[in-house]
This record gives sequence, structure tokens and C-alpha cells, in this order.
Amino acid sequence: MSAPEDDFRLVGAGAGERAEGSYGIPLAVLAELTHRCPLQCPYCSNPLDLEAAGRELDTAEWQRVMTELAEMGVLQIHFSGGEPAVRKDLAALVRHATEVGLYSNLITSAVMLSRDRLHALADAGLCHVQISFQAATAPLADRVGGFRNGHARKIEVAGWVRALDLPLTVNAVMHRQNLHELRAMIDMAVALDADRIEVANVQYYGWALRNRQALMPTLEQLEETTRIVEEARARLQGVLEIDYVIPDYYALRPKQCMGGWGRQFFNISPSGKVLPCHAAETITGLEFDSVRDRPLAWIWHHSEALNRYRGTGWMKEPCRSCAHKEADFGGCRCQAFALTGDAANTDPACALSPRHEDLFRLALAESAQEPPRFLYRNFSGGTVEA
Ligand code: SF4
Ligand code: FES
Repeated sequence: MSAPEDDFRLVGAGAGERAEGSYGIPLAVLAELTHRCPLQCPYCSNPLDLEAAGRELDTAEWQRVMTELAEMGVLQIHFSGGEPAVRKDLAALVRHATEVGLYSNLITSAVMLSRDRLHALADAGLCHVQISFQAATAPLADRVGGFRNGHARKIEVAGWVRALDLPLTVNAVMHRQNLHELRAMIDMAVALDADRIEVANVQYYGWALRNRQALMPTLEQLEETTRIVEEARARLQGVLEIDYVIPDYYALRPKQCMGGWGRQFFNISPSGKVLPCHAAETITGLEFDSVRDRPLAWIWHHSEALNRYRGTGWMKEPCRSCAHKEADFGGCRCQAFALTGDAANTDPACALSPRHEDLFRLALAESAQEPPRFLYRNFSGGTVEA
């Protein structure tokens, strides 16, 4: 799936003004219905230890959670995974979201959707569909996703989405091995009548960290990407909205990950754990509360994990005395942990981090090498090189 912080941009500006206390009401939730997925993307953002199907929340549990979300004032639910269409009760879940007044977005690989199923989802009140594409051409897309004929299927499903008049976002996860198809992917999004394309360079945590060298673009590729995006934005104004996320390792300032830890968004894992972001379980030493044990509103306000890096009080230097600390909240906690061993350190994507120069040089060095073979993940827990 995509870098999830981008999946929340459907929230309208101004919604965050409903602040309550120091961290307000969450605007949106990413409901990870399952970790099961037919694709094997080498940059998968799901945790390394996937949750088994037998641990997943059942239909009634998800429905209760959605009722609680609506009571809290949450506006949007993003059904995600893994692949959410693996769940046979997807339409029932969408219908419940509609009944309690949540705007629903389906983040999907599309390969498991039939025309009838999509009709049922639209009838249930689904508001938006976001389809991930691995490339613009079938051979490359199917190789990256590890799923034969997946690309052709996605194109077909995207057509059904638009025929049902559902808004469509193309999620284009970009890296060293598909950036040469970016122009074609933007043209593909226009041809599919999408409203929006997310040009999201891979972020390196979870499985993507294992494949970093195979995925890291060169600096020249990145500069060319930026040129392509700027030219397309000017050319396609009013036709296609283009979001653009550059790879952290080449950035000077970090991204405001998830809009700030425990500030506006959270994830619910397939078994009901409430996480500040999709990768938070990579940070060791954090305990996450479950919707199976506590009401969601209690968890949002009192969870030790959500409170640990809220606001700015936990920061060390250089963030503590930095003028940007309320703007980026010190970047990504998961990346800080993955690269420095301490989630309270400044994200090394920031030029003020003492680790930043090393990170930049590492990106240059890795991208200068011949890319190694992808290490694929699969739900049975095995790995495959190809
Ligand atoms: Fe952001 Fe911290 Fe860098 Fe300042 S020092 S720009 S707050 S990450
Ligand atoms: Fe950025 Fe977890 S992915 S805080």
C-alpha cells in the first residue's frame, strides 16, 4: 500500500479546527481490515510480523468500532489492508460506515474486485476508491507486484469505478525501477479519468527497508521526477491533481508524518490494536491498546503509546529549540527509530540531524550500485528473491 500519510489528504481544510484539548479529535482512521494480500510488493508498509486471519476483528466488532468513531466525531474511514477486498464482509462494513455517517474510502490493489462486487460497494454507500498501480506497463507492474495479469485487472476495475461515477485516485508508488514510467503513469491516470494521482516515492521502513538498495532512486532520477511532476501539474491544471512525496533520504526537511503523532489520525490493526501510524509496531517498547479491551475514545485520550510522542514536550535537541517544531513535529518517529535506535531523536531526514549527511551519502552510494534482486514478501511468511 501507499505511504499512508498521503491517504488522508481527502480531509477538507479547516476540519482540524474542531480542536478539543491539546490534540483535538482525530479526523480520519485507517482501518486495516486484514494483512492478507494477493500481491507481494517489495515496499509493503505492513509490519514484518503480519497478523493472522484468525485474529482479525469480525464484522460485529468492526461495526461497533465504526459506531464509536462516529460518536467521537471522526469524519473519514479508509478501508485498507493488506487487501481489504479479501474480507467477504466488506460491503456490510461499508454500509455500516454509511449508516453512522462516515465518509468511506477504499484503498485497494483492485485485483480481487469484480464488477458485481463494486456495484454492491457503491450501493452500500462507498464514497471513493484509491487503486495502487505498480507501473504503467503490464510486464513491469506485474513483476513489481508479484502478481500475474494484475495490471490489466487494475485497469479494468478502474474503468468500472468511473462507470459507477465513484471518484478515483491512482496511487503510484515510485522507486528506482519504475521512475522511467512516471510520465506514462500520469497519462494513464488521465486516461482512466482519475481525479488525483499520488506520486509517492517509497519510504523506507518495514519491508521497504529490506529492499532499500533495490528501490533507492539516483539523485538524477529524483531531479527528473520533480521536473516531470512540475510540468504535468502546469499542463493538467483542473484535469488531474498531483500529490508528490520525495524520498526522505534526499530531503532537507522531514515530512510531518501522519500530521504529527497522535494528533489527527490513527490506524486500527486487523486484530484491533490502535496505532499512531502503520509502522509504529517497529518501535520496540511501546504497548498498544486494543479496541477489544477499551472504548476507542478512552484509547485516543489515554493510550500510553499515543501520548508518548504527542506534541513537542518529548523532543530533544535540535528539535526542542527549533522554529519548525510545530510545523513538522520532528519528522517521522518510526524512521528516527529505524535509523538511530531512538524514536525521540530528530528524524535523520532533517538537515539539522547529526545523521543527515550519512543518510544522504548512503542514498547516493546505494543508488550508484547495480540494484539487487527484489526480496518479495508473502502472507505465508516466506520470502522469495526475483
Ligand atoms: Fe523539524 Fe526537528 Fe529538523 Fe527542526 S530540527 S526542522 S523540528 S526535524
Ligand atoms: Fe512516521 Fe510512524 S511512519 S511516525
